[in-house]
Amino acid sequence: MPGLRGGWGFRGRAAAGLAALLAVLAPAASRAADGKLTIGVVLPMSGAFADQGQHYENGIKLYQKLHGTTVAGLTVETVVRDDQGPGSGDLARRLTQELIVRNKADVILGYSFTPNAMAAASLLTEAKKPAVIVNAATSVITEKSPYFVRASFTLPQLAASLGRWAARNGIKTAYTIVSDYAPGIDAETWFKQSFEARGGKVIGDARTPVSAMEYAPFLQRAMEAKPDAVFAFNPGGDVSVAFMKSARERGLTKAGIKLLVTGDVVDDNLLPAMGDAVDGVISTLHYQVDIENRANAEFLKGFREMFGPAAVPSYRVVQGYDATAMIYKAVEKTKGNLDAAALMEAFKGMTVDSPRGPMTIDPATRDVVQNIYIRQGQLKDGAWRNLAIDTIEDVKDPAK
Ligand code: PHB
Repeated sequence: MPGLRGGWGFRGRAAAGLAALLAVLAPAASRAADGKLTIGVVLPMSGAFADQGQHYENGIKLYQKLHGTTVAGLTVETVVRDDQGPGSGDLARRLTQELIVRNKADVILGYSFTPNAMAAASLLTEAKKPAVIVNAATSVITEKSPYFVRASFTLPQLAASLGRWAARNGIKTAYTIVSDYAPGIDAETWFKQSFEARGGKVIGDARTPVSAMEYAPFLQRAMEAKPDAVFAFNPGGDVSVAFMKSARERGLTKAGIKLLVTGDVVDDNLLPAMGDAVDGVISTLHYQVDIENRANAEFLKGFREMFGPAAVPSYRVVQGYDATAMIYKAVEKTKGNLDAAALMEAFKGMTVDSPRGPMTIDPATRDVVQNIYIRQGQLKDGAWRNLAIDTIEDVKDPAK
């Protein structure tokens, strides 16, 4: 997959293209006068990660169902484009440009994958368009454009919390297995840093292709190293189901090795496909379905009305929902002024009453400050679940 190994799939673009883009944009500085708020949406809607795009879009739709399609007197219009998943940074950049120039998007909502967000960064800066990142979770992304604001999490938030838990819970040695691209490197780095700062030792590591479906050789080598625990990150969906099933088939936990994963690997909606592979697995995430608060009750009620009483939301639905909430809140705050500088000021320091719990946009970094839940895979009432065993409150991105 070009552009993923050790880089961002991003190369600078000719200044001429940007100049043309800016010329088109110049008269459109604040368009509240046309009575519309256009949200340009860039998501993986096809390919191996199409389910993820669907989850974010469901979150947008659910928010609009519950909160309407007007805000500050403006009619909200969403225009969705398919970036096809990781490895398509060039396409994500082109779609972003088209949404801004042709569709006159006032704000972008999107990017599931780090390389795609990175590829769009300089364009957003030149065009002065705010972009709410719906998932892409490598720490450095928000430093690549002052117009990025995150509705998701960072891998260091999850991995450092897990490294701390491991060191405090009797784990002395670990072996890391991460997807070989930027968020994987963030996860590997911050798990190790946090674990070793508290006396643990990482005794081996492996990096796997981003869309890998075959994990047996990596798990075999990890087991031969006989660590107390394996720590893993991979980017969700079928890829993570394949990883978890392979760990179960190799007998990782039966061999007495604890499995620790970032929470996207064992997303609630994936658990039925994983079965007892999640038994005892420890993970960290900013959402799971059993969080008890008013916002989550409202979210779940609406979600089940849309998708059926037994439907289980992915954390990605919550991120689509919250990204939309952030845009509505910002536009309310500016009283319908869609000027980028005004919107960015509105995002900074914003608090959202999220299904995940309290959530604040750090004004200095534009990342989310939020609770990180330590969860354990357990069988409850006949179904496998991630049950919270601890909460770390108000976690900032530790990498900044
Ligand atoms: C990312 O590319 O930043 C990414 C993708 C999927 C995840 C987490 C991070 O589950």
